[in-house]
Amino acid sequence: MEYNNIVVQVKEGIATITFNRPEVLNALSAEALKEFSHALDKINADEDIRALILTGAGEKSFIAGADIKQFLTFNTLKAKSFSEMGHSLMNKLQELLIPVIAAVNGFALGGGCEVALACDFIYASENAMFGLPEITLGIIPGFGGTQRLSRLIGMSMAKEMIFTGKMIPAAEAKDIGLANRVCSQEKLMDEVIKTAKTMASKGKVSVRAAKQAINNGMNVNLATGCSIEIDAFALCFTSPDAKEGTLAFLEKRKPDFKGSLKE
Ligand code: COA
Repeated sequence: MEYNNIVVQVKEGIATITFNRPEVLNALSAEALKEFSHALDKINADEDIRALILTGAGEKSFIAGADIKQFLTFNTLKAKSFSEMGHSLMNKLQELLIPVIAAVNGFALGGGCEVALACDFIYASENAMFGLPEITLGIIPGFGGTQRLSRLIGMSMAKEMIFTGKMIPAAEAKDIGLANRVCSQEKLMDEVIKTAKTMASKGKVSVRAAKQAINNGMNVNLATGCSIEIDAFALCFTSPDAKEGTLAFLEKRKPDFKGSLKE
């Protein structure tokens, strides 16, 4: 598939998808969403890729949301299938086998904020602005925003953001636990790549097991979550990495994990 709306690069086992429609602040057209979905499938199937970074072209925006024009053509059924498509895409992103960092380099609004929320965590540039402004358009978030934002920052904070449609700056996003880290625009990608490389240097099986245990355990009761962790912990011992990591510690050397990238 040829990509006209995104750019995919892979360097040293780290993939980057850049949303690339800066003239409309990287708003997500139907075509961009299809390309994004295709790229995620390809990345998930590539055993050599160990982490994914999402970012936006230019210095102003990560993604300013879904393409607003299309809503004029929607009826109830079209809206339902659009939202179902968005949910299945955000689920695919959330369930990617490798860690995904959102490098939010400007506006992350509506669908853009929802893309960031489906990543494993967010680093933001100082000029980043987060928001779910759909209420201002007479609609509500439809790509998982009402659910993922509430689970991440708590119901009251999420309600305030969603009912008012207000945007919050990066520093506030960090204060409420939406962004993990805030850096200058110039340093953002360096910081994100550094963290991606650290994760890529760990054991493939253990990183995957940790991600699945956290994701699958989040929305079940504690006992079920703990039982998910027990199985994930045991799964780590199917890989020689468990022995290698332990031996390396005892032998006071760096572990040489199978298939991992060097830090
Ligand atoms: N869909 C389609 N086009 C969009 C867009 C979106 N979600 N967000 C921005 N654009 C377009 C604008 O229409 C404008 O196009 P134009 O130059 O042809 O008029 C271009 O991107 C630049 O945006 P502009 O509004 O001029 O920039 P700004 O700096 O004044 O404002 C925003 C930036 C992000 C505050 C403003 O663009 C905005 O509110 N966008 C919509 C955000 C939103 O509601 N997203 C949720 C959608 S569900």
